Amino acid sequence: MRRDKTGGDAYIGRMNKTPARPLPASIDATVALLGEAHYLADRALGTVLYLALKMGRPLFLEGEAGVGKTEIAKVLSATLDRRLIRLQCYEGLDVAAAVYEWNYAAQMIAIRVAEAEGAHDRQSLEHDVFSERFLIKRPLLQALEPDTVGAPVLLIDEIDRTDEAFEAFLLEVLADFQITIPEMGTVKAEHPPIVVITSNRTREVHDALKRRCLYHWVGYPSAERELAIVRTKVPGVSKKLSEQVVAFVQALRKQDLFKSPGVAETLDWAAALSELDVVALDPATVSDTLGVLLKYQDDIAKLEGSKVKEMLDEVKSDLRAAE
Ligand SMILES: Nc1ncnc2c1ncn2[C@@H]1O[C@H](COP(=O)(O)OP(=O)(O)OP(=O)(O)O)[C@@H](O)[C@H]1O
Ligand SMILES: [Mg+2]
Repeated sequence: MRRDKTGGDAYIGRMNKTPARPLPASIDATVALLGEAHYLADRALGTVLYLALKMGRPLFLEGEAGVGKTEIAKVLSATLDRRLIRLQCYEGLDVAAAVYEWNYAAQMIAIRVAEAEGAHDRQSLEHDVFSERFLIKRPLLQALEPDTVGAPVLLIDEIDRTDEAFEAFLLEVLADFQITIPEMGTVKAEHPPIVVITSNRTREVHDALKRRCLYHWVGYPSAERELAIVRTKVPGVSKKLSEQVVAFVQALRKQDLFKSPGVAETLDWAAALSELDVVALDPATVSDTLGVLLKYQDDIAKLEGSKVKEMLDEVKSDLRAAE
């Protein structure tokens, strides 16, 4: 990495850290790695993640809200012992917030001080104020910096919220893992970061960006896997209640709703019912706690009345049949 003289100091504090764990050597090892942090992945996700790590390619994850896209990057950073650098995208995100910006106030002070001390060498002053000392590094630049514990995990979250101009810029960064700062030169990652990009698909992301990445659609989990997720993440809930919770949520996802509940809502609901000391679902409890699962009044209104009881009866009889 080419950079200004003061460069390495920021990371001296990390020197003594144990090096990052090696990347998983197989699909099974990848699934097991996520499992260590209680993330239960199916084989399709395990495969694409294994390949992304092996081939050094960004992983592009699309899916509904609350299905565990962001969590994958967090879990990777935790299990591989790497730094997590998160770029939360939003409309109007620009280079100053995503890559770097000069600390104008500090530059001005430095210039005033130099003037007061009688410095007249314009070139050397310019060189000084455009050095790393005055550079505020934002997530994309941080992700290209060397890290003694291993390349970091770069999470570019909810990319569909940015505009196309930023997407085009990102394309350049992901192609070469380098960024040019006009006043300083080019910063290139010695070891490219592990990149995870997520999108809720509020708009289509450009093909050119997707081409750089391996793609995976994170769908709702099967009932069996969702049950395992609930049992792992909300251990206080009884077997019977967790089965009912999962079966009811899975049935809800088959309804024509504006926004189906994600895994996040299932976990919240299980935790909420547990707080209320509920041992088994009944229509009144479900109706009273629907706000944990559904966040749109139209969706809640659709279930009011006899619908909840009807669905719950069906869920319970299915569960009895499966016993
Ligand atoms: N397969 C899984 N194993 C374990 N936990 C999961 C799994 N899928 C989702 N979760 C849990 O669901 C919750 C929501 O996950 P996350 O925030 O990553 O969703 P998301 O897809 O990024 O949602 P959004 O689009 O709203 O940002 C987290 O608490 C996460 O731990
Ligand atoms: Mg997310």
